[in-house]
Amino acid sequence: MTVLAPGPKPTLLGSLSYRPGRDPLAFYTTLVRTYGDVASYRMGGEQLVLVNDPALIKDILVTNNRNFTKGRALQRTKRLLGEGLLTSEGATHLRQRRLMQPAFHRERIATYADTMIAYADRTRRGWQDGTTLDVAQEMNRLTLSIVGKTLFDADVESQAAEIGAALTGVIETFWLTMVPFSDLLEHLPVPKLRRARRARGQLDAIIYGMIAERRRSHRDHGDLLSMLLSAQDEEAEGAAGRMTDRQVRDEAMTILLAGHETTANALTWTWYLLSTAPDVEARLHSEIDRVLQGRLPRMADIASLPFVERIVTESMRLYPPAWIIGRRALAAYPLGEYVAPARSILVMSPYVVQRDPRHYADPERFDPDRWTPEFRASLPKFAYFPFGGGPRQCIGESFAWMELALLMTTIAQRWQLRLVPGHPVVPEPLVTLRTKYGMRMTVTQRK
Ligand code: HEM
Repeated sequence: MTVLAPGPKPTLLGSLSYRPGRDPLAFYTTLVRTYGDVASYRMGGEQLVLVNDPALIKDILVTNNRNFTKGRALQRTKRLLGEGLLTSEGATHLRQRRLMQPAFHRERIATYADTMIAYADRTRRGWQDGTTLDVAQEMNRLTLSIVGKTLFDADVESQAAEIGAALTGVIETFWLTMVPFSDLLEHLPVPKLRRARRARGQLDAIIYGMIAERRRSHRDHGDLLSMLLSAQDEEAEGAAGRMTDRQVRDEAMTILLAGHETTANALTWTWYLLSTAPDVEARLHSEIDRVLQGRLPRMADIASLPFVERIVTESMRLYPPAWIIGRRALAAYPLGEYVAPARSILVMSPYVVQRDPRHYADPERFDPDRWTPEFRASLPKFAYFPFGGGPRQCIGESFAWMELALLMTTIAQRWQLRLVPGHPVVPEPLVTLRTKYGMRMTVTQRK
C-alpha cells in the first residue's frame, strides 16, 4: 500500500491546464474531476496531494491532526505574521491559543455586538443615494475598524487605506511561497518585491505604535491587547517562555489581518450574490423590516433572522474566504487505497468540496433555501468547512458569524446594492478568495 494517487504527469505541469498559478480554482476542480477524490501533483519541487473526500479531510484536520504540521507552505505568511496563532506550531501554538481563547468566548464576543452595529451604522450613513462604490474596499475598511476597536480598542479607520494597500503589496507576491530559493529572490531589485518589503515595514510601524501607545497609557482596557501585554508581564517573573515584544507584535498582526480580510471577503461576495438574485434580496429585506420595524438591530435579534444566516452560509459555500487549507505530513500517511509520502503537502479546498454535486444539488446555484435543518443534518461532516476544523479551527468563527449577520442586517436595512453593469467579477484566490477588480456597486437607498 505505497501507491501515490494518480495525477497529471510532471511533464504536463508546464501546460497551461495544469498550472495552479494561472487559475487555481479551475486547476483544483479539474484535478478532482479527472483523477478523483485523492490526486497528486508536483509544484515548486514539492509533492502535493489534493484530498477531496470529507471523511478523509476530517481525519487529517481532526482525528489524526498530530500526524501533520502547517509546515513550510506557510513560510512566506510567516515572514509577515511571524510566530502568531495562525502560523506557530506545537507547544507555542497551544500556549498562545489558551491565552487568547477568552477573548473569543461566546459571552465575551456578545459584548462586541454594539461596536459592530455602531460601525456598520456609521458606514451606511456615509453612503449617498445613487453613487457607485468599491464595496470590497468599503467592507475591508469596516471590518478592519471593527477588529481594531473590539480587540485592540484602537481606532484604525484612519489607517485603513494604508493597511489595505500594504496588505495588497504583501499578498501580491505570495506566489513566491511556491518557489524554491524565495528568500534569495526577495532581495532582488524587483519593484513588486521591494514594495512588499516596504509594506511589511509599514504594517510593523502601525502595530508597534499600537503596542507602545497602550504601554504608555498603563490602563487595562480589558481587550485582547491588554491580555497579551499582561501575560507578557506576568511571564517576565518566571522568565521561561516569556513572550517577547516581537511575539506580541506577531499575535496582534495575525489577529488584525486574519480577523478582517476574511470577513470582508465574505460580505463582498454576499452583496454580489444578492445583486444577482433579486427574489432572495426581497425576502431578506422583508425579514429585516418585519423583525426590526425600522430600529437598529441588537445581538438578540440574530436568532429571529434565520434567512440572514442562510444567505451568509450559502455565500460562504460558494465563495469560502479561506478557499484552501494545507498540511504537511510528518510521516507517510494512508489515504484510502493511496499513500501520501512523508513530507508531502496535503491540500484541502472548501471551494472545491462545497461545489461538489454529490453533496449539493445544482451546486453552482446560489440557493439559501437549501439550508434547512434536515439538509444540514444529512450533510456529511466536512462537506462544509469554511472555518477549517480540529485544534487549528478558526478561533474567530463565532466572532465572524455574529459580525456577518449584524453587518448584513444593518446595511441591508437601508441600502440595496447593485453590481455596476459590465464590472468584471473575477475571484482572485491568493491567501484568501478576493475579488480581482474589487466590486463596483451602485447603492440605492431603500424607501
Ligand atoms: C468569514 C470569516 C473567516 C473565515 C472564513 C476564517 C477561516 C479560517 C480558517 C479556515 C482557519 C483555519 C486555517 C487552517 O486550518 O490552516 C482559520 C484560522 C484562524 N482564524 Fe479565521 N476565519 C474568519 C474570521 C476570523 C476572525 C474574525 C478572526 C479573529 C478576529 C480569525 C482569526 C483566526 C486565527 C487566529 C486563526 C488561527 C487559529 C489557530 O491556528 O489556532 N478568523 N480561519
